[in-house]
Amino acid sequence: MSLTTRPTVGDTAWFAHDRFGLFIHWGLYALPARHEWVKHNEQITNEVYDSKYFTRFDPDLYDPRAWAAAAAGAGMKYFVITTKHHEGFCLWDSALTDYKSTQTPCGRDLLRPMVDAFREQDLKVGFYHSLIDWHHPHYIQDPHIGPYRAHADREAMNIGRDQGQYAAYLHGQTRELLTQFGKVHVLWYDFSYPKPDGSGKGHADWQSEPLLKMVRDLQPGILVNDRLDLPGDEAWDMKTPEQFQPREWVRVNGVPVVWEACQTFSGSWGYHRDEATWRSVEQLILTLIDCVSKGGNLLLNVGPTGRGEFDARALDRLAGMGEWMKRHGRSIYGSTQAPAEFPTPPDCRLTYNPTTHRMYVHVLAWPYKHLHLDGFKDKVEYAQLLNDASEVPMRGIEAWQGHWESGDKQTLTLTLPVVKPDVTYPVIELFLKP
Ligand code: GLC
Repeated sequence: MSLTTRPTVGDTAWFAHDRFGLFIHWGLYALPARHEWVKHNEQITNEVYDSKYFTRFDPDLYDPRAWAAAAAGAGMKYFVITTKHHEGFCLWDSALTDYKSTQTPCGRDLLRPMVDAFREQDLKVGFYHSLIDWHHPHYIQDPHIGPYRAHADREAMNIGRDQGQYAAYLHGQTRELLTQFGKVHVLWYDFSYPKPDGSGKGHADWQSEPLLKMVRDLQPGILVNDRLDLPGDEAWDMKTPEQFQPREWVRVNGVPVVWEACQTFSGSWGYHRDEATWRSVEQLILTLIDCVSKGGNLLLNVGPTGRGEFDARALDRLAGMGEWMKRHGRSIYGSTQAPAEFPTPPDCRLTYNPTTHRMYVHVLAWPYKHLHLDGFKDKVEYAQLLNDASEVPMRGIEAWQGHWESGDKQTLTLTLPVVKPDVTYPVIELFLKP
């Protein structure tokens, strides 16, 4: 049983093994600190936005080594950084624009030290790059999204604009990113929005087909996500369900595919000071377990502040996840959905490592004395708690209790300590018989 389920052009083997990555949304929008779509939400023109934020962007506390350490400590194995978001502002010293970090009070390239720091922590490098660009002088502003969607002069400002020149810029910056920063494992484009009436923007506006060919030529094996508005199985390597939890292994035309849930800790990708829907460590760990139990990855997002830091809320969640991953990573890395012959017990999630032939029972609600695993009888050699490798006896129900039990569903009954192990979610590691 393979972790990946369909041939992909990009190398999904490491991706399906590593399971857990860090998304980082960072740009000028960290200064308004009320969502990365603030320009769209509040219809802020480029002039106003730049006079307030471009002129004051100075992340003086930026320390990418601290970011990388927090991500590695959380158990994350790759990261995806917004090289440029919809606002058009670039974190690296692009030769194709002055709308970049080196031209702000920050005065330096922010991307290169970040890539170096994350590589030092052995995290693989991913670049998010916005197809959309509300700042570029040739980007046709449209009525669907952006700071000019409701602008009376939008049509006038579009006169003379040539979307093809913007596409050339998009391709040129992609070339910079894929030739100046060494090995790039993931390219995360965002996003196409073609409308049935021909409005919106899609592959023609990005010239997606030659763009994708260039990407794959420049970085053989790179993973490309599913937002270039290109048909065909070879146009994407993974599906990217966003801000919700898939009910089952994501399929395309009935075939299970490589997938990655991208989600935020709270309700915003960019730093949002006043947004309070921050999920708990317990909720976040359960989300990760649930993704892997369905054969998927989790890309969890941090929005750093305008001073260049992960805020305390983010650091708290990352540390809490890391505490659990330190002892339970074995049930996540290299694991996937359990084979169908092993039904999931109530209040549990299963993950399965096909290489080691071990099953992991994530116990979400600790039962009293026994855990009954229907369908597991005669299939398990040994069982232990993953957190401390203490044996979990497979003694089953005591004889004198047996007569209160009915039926035998090929059940393996594990004898558990009455007291739940002192970890967020206990995991029982089952050494399956060959
Ligand atoms: C959506 C949001 C965008 C965010 C992306 C992350 O496209 O509009 O702001 O970067 O999701 O997946």
